[in-house]
Amino acid sequence: MRLFKLNSNISKKNCYRHKISYSKIMYKDDLLKGKTIIVTGGGTGLGKSMSLRFSELGANVVITSRKLDILSETAKELQAQTGNPVMAAQADVRKPFENEDVLKLAIERFGQVDVLVNNAAGNFISPTERLSYRAFDTVVDIVLKGTYNFTLAAGKYWIENKIPGIVLNTVTTYATTGTAYVVPSAISKAGVVNLTKSLAAEWGKYGIRLNAIAPGPFPTKGAWQRLLPDPKFEKMLLNRIPLKRPGEHIELANLAAFLVSDFSGYITGDVITIDGGETVGTAGEFNWLDAIKPEEWDIYEKIVRGKE
Ligand code: HXC
Ligand code: NAP
Repeated sequence: MRLFKLNSNISKKNCYRHKISYSKIMYKDDLLKGKTIIVTGGGTGLGKSMSLRFSELGANVVITSRKLDILSETAKELQAQTGNPVMAAQADVRKPFENEDVLKLAIERFGQVDVLVNNAAGNFISPTERLSYRAFDTVVDIVLKGTYNFTLAAGKYWIENKIPGIVLNTVTTYATTGTAYVVPSAISKAGVVNLTKSLAAEWGKYGIRLNAIAPGPFPTKGAWQRLLPDPKFEKMLLNRIPLKRPGEHIELANLAAFLVSDFSGYITGDVITIDGGETVGTAGEFNWLDAIKPEEWDIYEKIVRGKE
């Protein structure tokens, strides 16, 4: 399953891949059978890839976002591919009543909603001082407000109906480290991490679990257009990654499937990083020694041993 073709040749050079038939060996086809899963931003990118995987594994999937034409096309495509029902429902996550309507429609159609995947986001690179107040608000409203809006709607429904629901939030590695040039996204994702942990503590008594995935770079049209508008940006980004390649959608989709399945039943309030080592690769005090060549090490070793 590869929904987005990568232009970079970095992924092909200097990187090791294990030859794994991901879709065949990891899960049984009925892993998610009987579960109904709402995926915000499910019409494109990683939301689409997760929706495909959930549907392949037997779930009823409801995809929601602002653009009904894209949602309907994706729903048709995924349903044809997996044979399981995929429903499209239009909503802007910034608007609480629209999210509640999606929840109602999903319950009407499938009887119950078990899982909410908060994946919708807005983001673009910009020096912060160039942003208008409205630009800042727009990203925060989609990412932070959109996530707590939908989570609140689902949580009220689950608590009232005694359903042990599951929330999976998509954050970013910079939610915890902070980052320059996408500050509205960074502070919003940080809020989502805190929401994940806080509600896991508060709603655990209802059997509700909340976790988050923090992906490194996974090529999607939406992210690449807004964050890497020049091919050299992609090269610079991927060079930071110890595994020297971007993530593959199936890798993230399989992690998501595990986290929304009953097999992760004792994991809650956690953030699982899936970034090819990017976070540790850019954090270590001496990681820059990667640039030293073997012949230089011969010299340095002598100095360090006090022999020169
Ligand atoms: C500065 C910008 C801007 C830009 C928009 N604005 N783009 N300012 N630089 N590039 C400003 C506008 O001028 C306006 O402010 C305000 O933001 C709202 O813009 P609208 O176009 O009216 O908003 P809207 O139609 O709601 O679109 C939201 C959006 C858009 C966030 C701006 O990009 C979008 O729809 N994005 C959804 C998909 C997405 O972002 N995917 C990427 C996710 S990747 P003024 O003051 O002029 O009115 C991700 C993490 C990736 O999150 C990590 C990778 C490793
Ligand atoms: P994407 O394809 O652009 O996905 C964003 C989705 O959000 C779109 O489907 C969009 O659909 C939806 N959306 C935006 N505003 C919305 C709103 N107001 N209401 C409802 N839906 C809205 O980008 P992506 O790369 O797959 O990103 C998916 C998630 O992964 C995001 O949370 C992102 O932060 C996270 N992430 C991605 C990467 C990466 O490398 N790709 C890395 C780290 C984290 P509409 O336009 O139809 O509304």
